[in-house]
Amino acid sequence: MSIHSEVKRITTATLLKMKNSGEKISMLTAYDYSFARIIDQSGIDVILVGDSASNVMAGHETTLPITLEHMIYHASSVVRGAKRCLIVVDLPFGAYQSNSDIALASAIRIMKETGAHAIKLEGGEEVLDSVKRIISAGIPVMAHLGLTPQSIYKFGSYNVRAKEELEAGKLKNDAKLLQDAGCFSLVLEKIPASLAKEVSEMLVIPTIGIGAGKHCNGQVLVMHDMLGINTEFKPRFLRQYLNASEQITGAVKQYIDDVKSGGFPTDTESY
Ligand code: KIV
Repeated sequence: MSIHSEVKRITTATLLKMKNSGEKISMLTAYDYSFARIIDQSGIDVILVGDSASNVMAGHETTLPITLEHMIYHASSVVRGAKRCLIVVDLPFGAYQSNSDIALASAIRIMKETGAHAIKLEGGEEVLDSVKRIISAGIPVMAHLGLTPQSIYKFGSYNVRAKEELEAGKLKNDAKLLQDAGCFSLVLEKIPASLAKEVSEMLVIPTIGIGAGKHCNGQVLVMHDMLGINTEFKPRFLRQYLNASEQITGAVKQYIDDVKSGGFPTDTESY
């Protein structure tokens, strides 16, 4: 419980309890104050300030261009809006891959300048030193394996990962190393459901899937995709819960008509 609020915060320990009790973890991305407020008040367990902001907020093709400064801006806005859920922030491309000193400095900046509760980073054995340094500084780390979008140019496509035995074996080994290093949870993106099941059963920490089937301990979607704001992205794993793009277009068109026709504002909408 925070000294500043009566709302009981979801913590990394809550997520572990949820896994142990069989309660699934719900996670969505958010990047600004207003949406974070709505999503938090709807009862979400975790908000991820994802580097997918690079795509859905800034219009870039990949997650690579977003900077640490941009992530800090998005995350501090989310923190002001969300009072109950756990808030996890992506370390962006370039903010941790060089060495563990840089990784630790980036993670510290996120925690100090945003008020968020944890960081997420992509990769396994190759980022293990950084993961250990960050955790030893008291910063909780969520790991991310499978399709890791910051490596898109290495993969060459957004296809399902770890279908072959060799890659599946590396993923399982990485998952174990990350857990042993102290990560509190693991995102599994776009891997076969059978592999995600195996990893989820093998680990003590909760797994959170996106395109990784129903056996993960939780699910995450990008908010703009599930609300139908971003309509160009329609992978098989995405369930769209709203057609916000259509609804917003309708409302804006109505507003334009009302302005053009002189129907807005009326006398009761004037002073
Ligand atoms: O940046 C992001 O939104 C993510 C999720 C897809 C897991 O990493």
